[in-house]
Amino acid sequence: MKVLLVFAFHLCPHAATLLIKGPTQPVLEGEAVTLECRYSDSEHNISQVRFEVFSKYMQGWRQLYERWCFYSLEIEQTADSLILSIPRVGKFFEGPYRCVSDSENVTAPDNASEPLTFKVQCEYMGDVILSREGYTSFLGVHQELKVQPGDDVVLRCSASSSEEPSYSWNKDGSEWKLLSSKLTLKKVSAMDEGLYTCMANHSVQSLSKKRTISITVLPEDAAWYESTNGRFILMTLAVAVVLLVFIVSMTVFLCNRAKQTKTCKGPIDDRSQKKPIYKASVESLPSTSGDKEPLV
Ligand SMILES: *[C@@H]1O[C@H](CO)[C@@H](O)[C@H](O)[C@H]1NC(C)=O
Ligand SMILES: *[C@@H]1O[C@H](CO)[C@@H](O)[C@H](O)[C@H]1NC(C)=O
Ligand SMILES: *[C@@H]1O[C@H](CO)[C@@H](O)[C@H](O)[C@H]1NC(C)=O
Ligand SMILES: *[C@@H]1O[C@H](CO)[C@@H](O)[C@H](O)[C@H]1NC(C)=O
Repeated sequence: MKVLLVFAFHLCPHAATLLIKGPTQPVLEGEAVTLECRYSDSEHNISQVRFEVFSKYMQGWRQLYERWCFYSLEIEQTADSLILSIPRVGKFFEGPYRCVSDSENVTAPDNASEPLTFKVQCEYMGDVILSREGYTSFLGVHQELKVQPGDDVVLRCSASSSEEPSYSWNKDGSEWKLLSSKLTLKKVSAMDEGLYTCMANHSVQSLSKKRTISITVLPEDAAWYESTNGRFILMTLAVAVVLLVFIVSMTVFLCNRAKQTKTCKGPIDDRSQKKPIYKASVESLPSTSGDKEPLV
């Protein structure tokens, strides 16, 4: 082992390379980003190191200054590293970046680091919505689902997102995991009770969201209206009854008012319309027949 190390040391006596560190995952637009340059060993002086960015427009590497294309950056030198801070990144800042040394003691290819590029994404993700298949999306507001034993429960998980998230379900934080947006529980029994969580994973981890719902299986002798579905039917019925009462009372009210103001007249009852129309009268249509009988 020792021989190997000594051998390696002699093979590359100045193996000090320049390293650049930065985001390894895509970053969101508007976030702060920090890049760091340092040597792989501490023997070299960082004061002769600078940041460069590749300009697609100029097709070449350009040194980065604190004022760069109207953007404000911060470049700070510490004892053994050089730090570039970008307060708010945009697409424009994706890179590539590299560190370059001007020291005569650092020869090519060690005088420049590997280039570093990171993705800037304009991503979003809305809240996770749970709905029960075959029913309206009323689970949106409920945190608890009460079902009758023997019922089938199919829950669907969704979220509006800049890209299709990867969904997974798990129960009570157990090892069990279902890689799907759809959770199907056939003929539920007390064993199926528990907290179910749907996780919607975005490729930008910080945007991932989850939602938990508790499923309770009612006892065999529970009344039908104790289930969430039963409650929903009751609520719908109540709303329907209220609406019906409202419509009926409005109709009665309007008709009463119409009778009082006499605007509710039917054309049949109106005697003024019963005036006979004669062939010769101004109101009659032109005709060649010469009858003198009233038309009406
Ligand atoms: C690095 O070099 C600068 C001058 O280029 C010098 O002032 C500084 O003391 C040096 N630092 C170290 C740690 O050698
Ligand atoms: C280069 O290395 C020599 C000796 O190793 C040292 O004396 C000198 O200061 C170094 N020069 C720079 C610019 O770092
Ligand atoms: C690295 O050093 C070589 C030779 O010393 C030089 O030609 C080259 O431009 C340097 N690279 C950078 C990025 O400055
Ligand atoms: C979603 O992300 C969490 C960590 O936030 C991870 O534990 C889980 O395995 C991921 N799920 C999928 C389906 O990628």
